[in-house]
Amino acid sequence: MTSASQDYLRVEGVTKRFGTFTALDNVSFGAKKGEFISILGPSGCGKTTMLRAVAGLERQDEGRVLLSGQDVSHLPVSKRHVGIVFQSYALFPNLSARSNIAYGLKRSMKSRSAVNERVDELLKLVGLKGLGSKYPGQLSGGQQQRVALARAMALSPNLLLLDEPLSALDAQVRVMLRTEIRAMTQRLGLTTIMVTHDQEEALTMADRILVMKDGELVQNGTPSEIYDEPESPFVASFIGSMNFIRGSYNRDTGTFSKGSVRVRVDRQARSLKGEVLAAIRPEDVLVSTNGEQGPNVFEVDVRNVEYRGPIYRLALDLPLGHTETAPLIAEMPAEKVRRLNMTSDSRVKVILPSERVRLFHAEQV
Ligand SMILES: Nc1ncnc2c1ncn2[C@@H]1O[C@H](COP(=O)(O)OP(=O)(O)O)[C@@H](O)[C@H]1O
Ligand SMILES: [Mg+2]
Repeated sequence: MTSASQDYLRVEGVTKRFGTFTALDNVSFGAKKGEFISILGPSGCGKTTMLRAVAGLERQDEGRVLLSGQDVSHLPVSKRHVGIVFQSYALFPNLSARSNIAYGLKRSMKSRSAVNERVDELLKLVGLKGLGSKYPGQLSGGQQQRVALARAMALSPNLLLLDEPLSALDAQVRVMLRTEIRAMTQRLGLTTIMVTHDQEEALTMADRILVMKDGELVQNGTPSEIYDEPESPFVASFIGSMNFIRGSYNRDTGTFSKGSVRVRVDRQARSLKGEVLAAIRPEDVLVSTNGEQGPNVFEVDVRNVEYRGPIYRLALDLPLGHTETAPLIAEMPAEKVRRLNMTSDSRVKVILPSERVRLFHAEQV
């Protein structure tokens, strides 16, 4: 964790209401200089509103926004030294790429040649050298978003704010721009906040991910903390996928049970008792056709085998008693599925490694 004094940006207790609706509910976080932060969450959870409050496009009802330790809550967007890129390219269609990029520069730069020089620099920065004379209509989606990025960078902002900048692009362009944007912000040491609803984008690009739900910040951590140590079933299932089984937990023996199934759990779950949710990621469910025995080994029926390219996704039924079963998803490398000759009527063993099982309060859902 970073100390507050090191943060370039601080958001403190920001609440934003639209009428009686609370779009942001007491949100606090910080960003160190040069840090790349991703705000991730389902549609409507308040991501754009958060970004707009940081930018100064929206004024919060409560709380403060600080840049370099100074409260900028009262400052308009033009005084906050931020560059903004939206999902839609928002370019002027009747202006060339050059003119789009130069638009905000003309006021602050005296000579035409200084503007031209800066625009050339920016075109190069975003990989559009030589395309300055093209109009938005003559450029691909990815190229238009590069123009938008160059425009946002024109006045050398201290903070770059990106609102789903890649979501309108096709998959290949998206992946390429991900890498390029990340490399650019890293090279410039530029503090960046990127809103996305795409978990892969957040996991691959961000130093830190803020997960939002219904206007609240529900978890703030590095990508691996968010993925490996989700603090709630919501985060666990929103980022990646997760198997859940509802049952009870015995703290004295460290076991979860449901029907005839007993699962040993390594993690200390001091605060838990009674009804809980046991959770395990599909890639942590180990499938085997050997004669394994012991705790956390169960015989299951394969209900469905789904091809996913490099992996297979197996839908399994874990027997809990006479008739009841719990659905369990396992992911396996394609090579292993083929080697084990697994089909949808196989019976296999699964191991639920005790160190990969986590528990949540049942009412946390
Ligand atoms: N200007 C506004 N007036 C009223 N409601 C708004 C306004 N802007 C956003 N909202 C509402 O606030 C919630 C969060 O919106 P938004 O921040 O755009 O979500 P996200 O970007 O996560 O999809 C939504 O329910 C949205 O309808
Ligand atoms: Mg949005």
